[in-house]
Amino acid sequence: MEVIITPAPAIGGLVVDQIGALLDRKPTAVLGLATGSSPLVAYEELAARVNDGRLSLARARGFTLDEYVGLPEGHPCSYRSVIDHELVSRVDFAPGAVMGPDGTAPDLEAACVQYEHEISTAGGVDLQILGIGTDGHIAFNEPGSSLASRTRVKTLTDQTRRDNARFFDGDVDAVPRHCLTQGLGTIMDARHVVLVATGRGKAAAVRQLVEGAVSALWPATILQHHPHVTVVIDEPAAAQL
Ligand code: GLP
Repeated sequence: MEVIITPAPAIGGLVVDQIGALLDRKPTAVLGLATGSSPLVAYEELAARVNDGRLSLARARGFTLDEYVGLPEGHPCSYRSVIDHELVSRVDFAPGAVMGPDGTAPDLEAACVQYEHEISTAGGVDLQILGIGTDGHIAFNEPGSSLASRTRVKTLTDQTRRDNARFFDGDVDAVPRHCLTQGLGTIMDARHVVLVATGRGKAAAVRQLVEGAVSALWPATILQHHPHVTVVIDEPAAAQL
């Protein structure tokens, strides 16, 4: 695990340098796309480099990590809408090149199996961008998640619902109780994982991620077993290392 501690304004550039190097050698790369606020600096930089012609995602594909259950299509807080707004609409992905788990499917279990199938049919994820929750979750793999899990339905913890209420006008009751999420085993199949964390609120989770024992109680710690992880954090997030 490589840990890069850098001033926050440099984070977007560092992440996109990794994406650019991948696209240079593999223009058809498959990117794993996280939502949440942490990756936004990277998406802004990615959009800037696509728009000035330094990078192209025209032949690349993307898979998002997770989705709330039950938000209607087009709901501004659905992760599908968020990734469309923050990234897809601002770069040159081909139509349909970015997929996500379907939180509106009548058969959610089948949607999870289908999503795993789509990722593997695409050849797997080359570079997975990740954030981390304050309780050490990645995607929506909350504490206690099986370290070998695959895409499935999960119940969100009260902590995560409170953390994410800010996207729902501060109304925790509006945050769905369930989600579909790639599993820890799914994420571990990505060939390179780039995790971004900023701010003091993430310091405890970052300490566990980097220095803690591997445990389902801190799901991100499974990344210690991954052969190629880059952790990009600012000083406050690194405060407990
Ligand atoms: C959500 C997402 C995660 C994300 C986490 C942290 O729970 N499912 O993928 O990493 O929030 O989000 P943020 O980067 O906004 O702190």
